[in-house]
Amino acid sequence: MSSPYFNLKVIEITRETADAATIHFEHPDKQTINYKPGQFLTLILSIEGKEVRRSYSLSSTTQEAPRLSVTVKRVEGGLVSNYLLNTLEVGQEVKVMEPLGNFCLTCAPQNQRNVLLFGAGSGITPLMSILKAVLTEEPNSKVTLLYGNRDEDSVIFKDKLQELEQQYADRLHVEYIYSQPKHDCDHRGRMNQSMIIKILERLQLAKISNAVYFMCGPEGMMEEVRHALDVLHVPADCIFRESFVSNKLQDKQEEAQHGAVVSSDEDEEITTQTVTVIYEGSEYSFVVEPDQTILEAALDQNIDLPYSCQAGLCTACRGKCLSGKVHLDEREGLSDAEMEEGYVLNCVSHPLSANVMIEIG
Ligand SMILES: Cc1cc2nc3c(=O)[nH]c(=O)nc-3n(C[C@H](O)[C@H](O)[C@H](O)COP(=O)(O)OP(=O)(O)OC[C@H]3O[C@@H](n4cnc5c(N)ncnc54)[C@H](O)[C@@H]3O)c2cc1C
Ligand code: FES
Repeated sequence: MSSPYFNLKVIEITRETADAATIHFEHPDKQTINYKPGQFLTLILSIEGKEVRRSYSLSSTTQEAPRLSVTVKRVEGGLVSNYLLNTLEVGQEVKVMEPLGNFCLTCAPQNQRNVLLFGAGSGITPLMSILKAVLTEEPNSKVTLLYGNRDEDSVIFKDKLQELEQQYADRLHVEYIYSQPKHDCDHRGRMNQSMIIKILERLQLAKISNAVYFMCGPEGMMEEVRHALDVLHVPADCIFRESFVSNKLQDKQEEAQHGAVVSSDEDEEITTQTVTVIYEGSEYSFVVEPDQTILEAALDQNIDLPYSCQAGLCTACRGKCLSGKVHLDEREGLSDAEMEEGYVLNCVSHPLSANVMIEIG
């Protein structure tokens, strides 16, 4: 298996808003990096002498190869976002891990569907990649974007979206929603259930069957979208969501799964256990203390397992639990089907029994 790590060179940095910028990369040999619209890149940086990793969704599409781009929004007090926005320079090389993620769309020219996107703030980044891919690769599909921002100045990709709306006038429609608009606007306030339903009804998109729904943004916004889609009886398997920030544990009921593989019961005692991980043909056994996750214990032993967000969101560290019982602190990144199949996220997992064996890849 070839290494999932490589270097990319910064070839341009485009300022999007006062606190967001797009970083454009190229492979130093101009190799094309393959990825699906909606996937993310893991940037691996050395800041203040310490290696740090963060996930950033690709806002480009493979049609723009060999260029690939991520768009970063500043998080107040945030280590990496501030480093990238204040310090990174054109010409610098950045170590990355190959594109990953399940929040993605596979395009095919014969598709004839509605792609409905719901985004707010930096949540626009994977949606932008999906939007551009559908417009260029599915000539018979339409895209509608409901896009929430604080005000007109904080809209990432504003010019690009306007340009695309003109270029694909009958295939792309964007509705802007502002919580604190500076001027008169169509939708004032935060994106909420009734606003979403009204917009979709007006656009005659409330009762359609050939649609897929993607959402990315703050948890509150995604809850509102989810409720609106429930009211409109949209089937759950047509709805996809991506979180950039970790949430509290989900409802215990939702998490109790078949067999004894994955658990989130907070009453279960986490004790010191030896865990075995199989990765790229090698088997590693190591001790995991109660205050460590399986990933942390592996990294302490210099076992180079894959990871990115370290918050149970991105699935870069996903493995399948072959035996034993594991507690998950967070399950945002896993679907119900994955939970049932025994998948775990090593960055938020703790062994609950002596015989835990996890296979990655
Ligand atoms: C799959 C995935 C894709 C992502 N894609 C993007 C992207 O395309 N663009 C982008 O800008 N970010 C994206 N993120 C978020 C990104 O990885 C970082 O978490 C973010 O840049 C903050 O990192 P930091 O080092 O600046 O902040 P940290 O130093 O890690 O955190 C500082 C404080 O801010 C809080 N915080 C962290 N992230 C956020 C956030 N997003 N919003 C509000 N508070 C936060 C933390 O809880 C902490 O209290 C993505 C995350 C995931 C998991
Ligand atoms: S590293 Fe992202 S889910 Fe574990």
